Amino acid sequence: MNKNNKKSFSSYFIKLIMYYKGSILGEKSRIDLINALIDKYNYKSYLEIGIQDGQCLKRIHCSDKTGVDPFPMINSIKNTKIIKQTSDEFFKDCNEKYDLIFIDGLHTYEQAYIDFINAVERLNLNGRIVIHDCNPISEERSISFSEGGKWNGDVYKTIIKIRSLGDYTIQTIDIDNGCGVIELKPSNKLQDYELNYNWLAHNRKKAINLISWEDFVKSP
Ligand SMILES: C[S@@+](CC[C@H](N)C(=O)[O-])C[C@H]1O[C@@H](n2cnc3c(N)ncnc32)[C@H](O)[C@@H]1O
Repeated sequence: MNKNNKKSFSSYFIKLIMYYKGSILGEKSRIDLINALIDKYNYKSYLEIGIQDGQCLKRIHCSDKTGVDPFPMINSIKNTKIIKQTSDEFFKDCNEKYDLIFIDGLHTYEQAYIDFINAVERLNLNGRIVIHDCNPISEERSISFSEGGKWNGDVYKTIIKIRSLGDYTIQTIDIDNGCGVIELKPSNKLQDYELNYNWLAHNRKKAINLISWEDFVKSP
């Protein structure tokens, strides 16, 4: 087994344990969030970047689902297209539009940002993009996959960067390692930020606009 496969397997087992621990404790997950958005806005089409074993994809209640992963650990899911490609390869030839796009592929700032920019192009007007792993709770968890990280990576930098543009509205829901929900709606630009874990740790709420699940549910 090569280094990348080992990394992928250990991240898979950690997530599996966290998922079942969360379900037993009644904690909300990315799956609850995505299904809540689909129900609330009556979304019909869903794209997931990075599907692994389909733990999330198979639980999403949407009539039209597509999953993209260069190394999927599942061959088929009912009513779902599974595409064995990297996100870059997929977006290069993609002509479809989607209501909700979930970005959970390679956990590096650079790739998550490229995935976001490509996702914006493929998003329906009233759609939403969700990005996973935006709120690492320790420096160790925030190490980029390109530098040997195994957990959230430095995807939080992608959220900070997007908030600095002012072209999008982002809320990061404080569940399941932080799930950023992004709308194509301008908002105030985040100013005077730094792209490092220390700055995130001291400015968590402001940096990624962190809100609780309860406040998210109450929001219009
Ligand atoms: C954290 S897992 C995805 C978990 C899944 N979304 C879920 O919620 O259950 C990350 C996946 O991204 C895939 N991946 C890595 N690089 C990718 C890329 N460039 N494009 C798309 N997927 C990628 C990996 O193969 C891995 O299966």
